[in-house]
Order: sequence, then C-alpha cells, then structure tokens
Amino acid sequence: MKNRPLQRLFSASIALFLGVALASAVQAANTAGTNDEGLGRLHATRGVQCAGCHGNVKKPQAVPMEQCLTCHGDTKALAAKTASVKPTNPHESRHYGTEADCNLCHHQHRKSENFCLDCHPRFDFKVK
Ligand code: HEC
Ligand code: HEC
Ligand code: HEC
Ligand code: HEC
Repeated sequence: MKNRPLQRLFSASIALFLGVALASAVQAANTAGTNDEGLGRLHATRGVQCAGCHGNVKKPQAVPMEQCLTCHGDTKALAAKTASVKPTNPHESRHYGTEADCNLCHHQHRKSENFCLDCHPRFDFKVK
C-alpha cells in the first residue's frame, strides 16, 4: 500500500484519541458515582476499598463513625495525636469533647470542610 507511514500515524492518532476519550469517560463515571476526590482518593491509594468502609453490600449506606475508628484508633487516641495542632485541637473541643462526628469535617465523596469556621474564623484548619 502507498503512503504507509502516514496511514500508521493516522491509526496511531485514532487509537490515542479513543484511549484518552475512554479514560475521561471512566473518570467522569467515577466522579458522578462516588465523587472520590481528596480523602476518597487518598484512601483508595492506601488500599481502602469501598468495602473497607461500607462492608460488602450492593447499596452502600452512610458510614457510622465507629467504622472510621476501627482503623484510626479510638477518639481519645486520635485527639492525643493532634493535641498540639494550632490554634486548637480539631479532635477535642469545648462543644463536643472528643466525640465530634468525623463527617462534619472529613468527606470521602466530596471536598472536606472546616466545620468550625462559620462560627470561629480564627480556627482556620486545613482538613484532608
Ligand atoms: C473511608 C471510608 C469510605 C470509603 C473507602 C468509601 N466510602 Fe462511600 N461513604 C462514606 C461515608 C462517610 C459516607 C456518608 C457521607 C457522605 O455521603 O459523604 C458515604 C456515602 C456513600 C454513598 C451514599 C450512601 C447514602 O445513601 O447516603 C454511596 C453510594 C457510597 N458512599 C459509595 C461508595 C463506593 C462505591 C465506594 C468505593 C468506590 C465508597 N463509597 C468508598 C465513606 C466511605
Ligand atoms: C479500613 C481502614 C480504614 C477505614 C475504615 C477508614 N480509614 Fe481513614 N485511612 C486509612 C489509611 C490506611 C489511611 C492512610 C494514612 C494512614 O496510614 O493513616 C487513612 C487516612 C485517613 C486520613 C488522612 C490522615 C492523614 O495522615 O492526614 C483521614 C483524615 C481519614 N483517613 C479519615 C477517615 C474517616 C473520617 C473514616 C470514616 C468515614 C476513615 N478514615 C475510615 C484507613 C482507614
Ligand atoms: C472539626 C473538624 C474535624 C473533625 C470533626 C474530625 N477531624 Fe480529623 N482532622 C481535622 C483536622 C483539621 C486535621 C489536621 C490536623 C493537622 O493540622 O495536623 C485532622 C487530622 C486527622 C487525621 C490525621 C491525624 C494525624 O496523625 O496527624 C486523622 C487520621 C483524622 N483526622 C481522622 C478523624 C476521624 C476518624 C474523625 C472522627 C472520629 C475526625 N478526624 C474528626 C479535623 C477534624
Ligand atoms: C454554631 C456555632 C459554633 C460552631 C459550629 C462551633 N463553635 Fe465553638 N463556640 C461557639 C460560641 C458561641 C462560643 C462562645 C461560647 C462558649 O464559650 O461556649 C464558642 C466557644 C468555643 C471555644 C472556647 C472559646 C475560644 O474561642 O477559645 C472553643 C475552644 C471552641 N468554641 C471550639 C470550637 C471547635 C473546635 C469547633 C469545631 C469542631 C467549634 N467550636 C464549632 C460557637 C460555635
């Protein structure tokens, strides 16, 4: 066949194009289904799969914080780890003691947030 190199280049570009299109379709599906950014992605890269939090179920339900504690230690131990965080310990506060629900700040499927900030502008935590 004539013009072979050009044809190869052409098929290669098609393959590359399809590959990229497929990759972004998969990515879009992930975002739509579970929105795994930030902490969700961090957990995934450390081998914590869906079942690690949700159990082996067909329809995942919201996760109680006891499930987080099976891996992250009890609330007192967690508070001890962040005792020196300034301006105040996020895991031990005047209002909640050590029992604030993890999901007030840390999110798996959307951006995490600083729950204290609305009322305390000076507690400018960066939450993963
Ligand atoms: C580190 C723990 C963790 C992992 C890993 C995790 N999730 Fe979640 N998931 C949660 C928490 C916490 C909630 C409830 C709060 C929220 O919606 O952000 C939730 C909520 C959900 C919900 C909505 C449930 C409802 O009805 O409220 C779905 C669906 C879901 N997760 C699917 C998944 C899938 C699929 C995976 C794997 C790709 C996954 N989750 C991995 C913690 C986790
Ligand atoms: C199956 C075990 C497991 C479960 C369940 C789990 N995690 Fe994790 N988590 C990990 C691992 C492993 C890491 C990686 C860093 C590490 O080793 O601490 C991590 C990292 C984190 C980090 C970042 C820590 C850092 O060093 O900055 C936060 C925050 C976190 N998890 C919160 C949660 C919350 C909230 C839940 C419940 C919705 C949860 N985790 C459930 C295992 C788990
Ligand atoms: C008020 C918001 C808030 C709540 C509620 C909260 N966290 Fe955190 N968490 C933070 C912030 C802020 C940090 C980062 C502290 C720092 O700067 O090192 C953090 C850090 C962590 C870390 C890393 C600790 C380390 O080794 O340095 C883990 C693990 C974690 N959180 C898990 C949890 C779990 C599990 C819960 C529920 C029992 C929880 N957090 C509740 C705000 C929160
Ligand atoms: C709905 C508003 C609101 C939220 C949310 C809130 N606080 Fe407060 N907080 C207050 C008010 C009002 C006071 C002053 C009254 C008092 O001392 O109880 C206060 C007082 C405090 C104090 C003692 C006074 C100071 O400024 O040092 C600490 C520490 C504190 N909050 C920590 C936190 C932490 C940590 C969080 C997030 C886990 C948080 N608060 C979330 C309203 C809030």
